[in-house]
Amino acid sequence: MKLKPGARFSTICIHAGQEPDPSTGAIITPIFQTSTYVQTALGEHKGYEYARTQNPTRAALEANIAAMEGGRAGFAFASGMAAINAITSQLASGDHVVVTDNTYGGTYRLFEHVLRRVSLDFSYVDTSNLDAVAAAIRPATRLLFLETPTNPVMGISDIAAVSALARDRGIRVAVDNTFASPCLQQPIALGADLVVHSTTKYLNGHSDSVGGIVVARRDEDLEWLRFVQNAAGGILGPFDAWLVLRGTKTLAVRMAEHNRNGQAIAAYLTTHSKVRRVYYPGLPDHPQHALAARQMRGFGGMLAFDLGSLDAARALLNGVRLMSLAESLGGVETLISHPATMTHASVPPERRAAIGITDGLVRISAGIEDIADLLDDLEQALARV
Ligand SMILES: Cc1ncc(COP(=O)(O)O)c(C=O)c1O
Repeated sequence: MKLKPGARFSTICIHAGQEPDPSTGAIITPIFQTSTYVQTALGEHKGYEYARTQNPTRAALEANIAAMEGGRAGFAFASGMAAINAITSQLASGDHVVVTDNTYGGTYRLFEHVLRRVSLDFSYVDTSNLDAVAAAIRPATRLLFLETPTNPVMGISDIAAVSALARDRGIRVAVDNTFASPCLQQPIALGADLVVHSTTKYLNGHSDSVGGIVVARRDEDLEWLRFVQNAAGGILGPFDAWLVLRGTKTLAVRMAEHNRNGQAIAAYLTTHSKVRRVYYPGLPDHPQHALAARQMRGFGGMLAFDLGSLDAARALLNGVRLMSLAESLGGVETLISHPATMTHASVPPERRAAIGITDGLVRISAGIEDIADLLDDLEQALARV
């Protein structure tokens, strides 16, 4: 292992968990596309028995992202949702979870339509308000599930303060760090117990893989996640693990560009007469701007803005040429989407209204194209609104 303790973030991205292949010296971990491993004699093997349980490509990715997040180990799953499900698999019926109110629509769907069936209970609160978090905690609360920044209205929760509150009460804190990536925010250093990602987004960064990962630090979580990865089997395949590893090497340079373009697009939109409101934590009038500046190293590439009506949003979304109208985020290409009918369609209309997901709301995942081209595209599309 070449990495010294104290290595900086971009060095960790490139080198953590990456050893030359012992059989050839290949600098890049190969795609170990195998389902099983030959044993030299009964009970004698090289630590690998069956590929649901262990795979060297997946192990290299897990070590890489665990180091980026400052956790003790990572566990890669077939999607972000499978990773979130693995965290909740530790709960037992009757347990209660406090959840950030404008969490990703798929997370809400998992909690409400799958896990309520096995008698888990969920309360959705504005976790940027500590009093609201404290008030939602019950004797049965076992987990605080934070998403910060939130999808899509970019609310910021104070990870350190929420973690302190949870620690006093013996409750675990899990943070969905998909929007920020470990480049901008490391929840474990701020006191969280578990970090989860849809690796589909910034970690992969190239819109060519679906995956998820949980990074943990407590002994009992490490033990459970290792067990559940094998027992429930929702693992990430070796080719996807390799694609994400290829992505993480450039995370630091990509995020610097995402930050720059996100900030520039948000600033441009605030000056446009057809835009009613812009949601971006890097704007000084964002309600948690000071907290974001303290907690994050850059404000990221995600932003949302309100055009006032579905017709206006439709005109813009149908009018863009360079930006692609698509779900997902975090890739090198700029994506634009309509949360109310796309990512958050599974959230009931009255809940959407309560958290600001209006029919006129548009979300942008700023890619890393030249900013002048992105602003030209927005300008011509806004002229059609
Ligand atoms: C914040 C957040 N968490 C989790 C997920 C789910 O990840 P996946 O689509 O990889 O299952 C998404 C997907 O958009 C997301 O935006």
